[in-house]
This record gives sequence, structure tokens and C-alpha cells, in this order.
Amino acid sequence: MKLAVIPGDGIGVEVTAEAIRVLDALVPGVEKTEYDLGARRYLRTGETLTDADVESLKSHDAILLGAIGDPRSVPAGVLERGMLLPLRFALDHHVNLRPSRLYPGSATPLKNPGEIDFVVVREGTEGLYTGNGGAIRVGTPQEIGTETSVNTRFGVERVVRDAFDRARARRGKLTLVHKTNVLVNAGGLWQRTVDEVAPEFADVEVDYCHIDAATIYMVTEPSRFDVIVTDNLFGDIITDLAAAVTGGIGTAASGNIDASGTNPSMFEPVHGSAPDIAGQGKADPTAAILSVALMLRHLGKAAEADRVEAAVEADLGSRGDGPVSTSEVGNRIVAALGG
Ligand code: IPM
Ligand code: MN
Repeated sequence: MKLAVIPGDGIGVEVTAEAIRVLDALVPGVEKTEYDLGARRYLRTGETLTDADVESLKSHDAILLGAIGDPRSVPAGVLERGMLLPLRFALDHHVNLRPSRLYPGSATPLKNPGEIDFVVVREGTEGLYTGNGGAIRVGTPQEIGTETSVNTRFGVERVVRDAFDRARARRGKLTLVHKTNVLVNAGGLWQRTVDEVAPEFADVEVDYCHIDAATIYMVTEPSRFDVIVTDNLFGDIITDLAAAVTGGIGTAASGNIDASGTNPSMFEPVHGSAPDIAGQGKADPTAAILSVALMLRHLGKAAEADRVEAAVEADLGSRGDGPVSTSEVGNRIVAALGG
């Protein structure tokens, strides 16, 4: 197995180190290549992501990414638009998979959370993220800025089919989240696609929620969700909320998946580089470690993925109220795996 590792910036470096320790404890002999991408490389060379980087990354079975960005030295958008999104687009990561589970013992801000165990299948290559827009008369009182959401039948159908497959393998419920009462063009395309594919998955119950109502249900009744399918921006927003209700962004993992298998998929914590706590050894590596579990499952190593998740569950369940250190969490998971 050939793995590309992009530790990135800030706590990305620290949590990735623990994730790699966990991987090594489970799957010996993984060939790893580290890539210098992110704020440090940009500040040194002015480069965000080159064609050569992309070509070289393509020769791996998977990519593990920590976090990128340093808002203190790199203007907002430079690395997002110059590195992370181009990478997701170049590798056709159309399924942005974001599971949320409330593990026993995790701190949730909800009074009566009930069982929380759902996955958001967020479209990853289209929508408002494509950079399809522009600005004119910048800086004048007549300034106009536009971002146009791109939704193709091809792009919507492939992610909808992936979500149906996942629902079938889980509890058999799929919820489309959109805003079809206002965004009638894109929303119509999403709704019709779901309706047309649904008969092929007669065993899957289909539901629909407007995005605004979905944020209410996620707080008042999160157990109603099994698989959510939604567009790029709605998926971005709702998965931060999902992370918050399941104990915080420190445990939220994600996979950027090319479901066709043509390109390597990329696994990363949902959180950012958190420069405010970087270098202090106090970032929770759980999200990075659970991203390794997602990666293993994607690569067909389900038993190994189960073991990581069980170790994380045990660790979260045995934590006291005090702070945990990055390496302490890594130590506990590695010890639980017999490493
Ligand atoms: C995420 C992040 C990214 C996104 C940013 C950093 C571009 O918020 O992975 O959720 O919006 O997709
Ligand atoms: Mn986000």
C-alpha cells in the first residue's frame, strides 16, 4: 500500500503524526511519501499546488491530510482556492463522506441526544465551490459579486447513487437536504434525480428536508437521520453542526472519495489547522485517527477499521473531564490495538 501524507500546517502536523502511529500499529509496511503542501510551502515558494504535485499524488493508493492554512500569514482563500479545492477537483473527489456518531461518553451540548449515527454524503466537486462567478466594479458603491452554483445531472446522479448504496448498507433511510422551495433550478434537478433513482432502491425509504429545517432536526431529533445527501455548501455547513452535536469538531472525520476508483481518495479531519493551539500538544487527534479508519474501510480493510473505531470508542468512554494531550490519545489507541 502506497500512502501520500500531507501533514499541512498547525495542528495538522501533530494529529497526523498520531494517525500514522495508529496506522503503523495495525498495518505494517505501508509505504509513505510525505508532501510539503500548505502555508509553509506557500510562504517559502509562492506555490500552492503544482501539476507535478497532482501527478505525483495520483500514484498512491490513498492520501492522508492533516489540515492546511495559517490565517495569520496567508490571506483567506489562497490555500482553499489554490490547494485544497483544486486537489479535490483534480482527483474527482465527488463523494465527500462525513460520518457522525455520538460515542458513549462524548460531550454533546444536546440535553436529550438519543442515538446519533448518520453519515452526510456531501457532493464534493460542484455547487457553489466551483469558482464560477465574478466581481465587477470592485470597491465602488456599484460593486457586484456573484457565485453561481453548478449542478450537473451527471454529478448529482453519481453522488445520489452513492448515497442510496450507503443507505442500503446501513439502516435503509436516505434524506435529501436542499432548499427546493427557493433554489428551484438546482433543487429541481436534485429532487428529480432522487425520485428517478429511488425505484432502483425500493428497500430504501426516502425523505426530504429543507436545509433550514434540517438544522433544527439535527439539534432536536438527530436520530431521524441515517444517510443525508446534499450539495457542496449545504454539506459543508451541516457537517460542522453534525460535529458539534456529536461531541465537537475534534472527533469529526471525513473522506474525499473518487467512487469510480480512478484516483486516490483523500482522508482528513473536518477541523482546520487551529494555529491558536498549535505546537502545544493539546489538539485531539481523534478526528485524524477516525479518518484512518475511514481510509482503511475504503481500501477494503473493514476489520482493521472496526478495530480503530472500537479503540476510539473505548478511549472516549474512559476520558475524564480534564484535558487530554495529543500524544496521550495516540498512546491509548495504539495500546488498545496491541501496539
Ligand atoms: C471543509 C472545509 C473546507 C470546505 C474549506 C477549508 C475550503 O471547511 O473541509 O469542510 O469548505 O470544504
Ligand atoms: Mn467545512
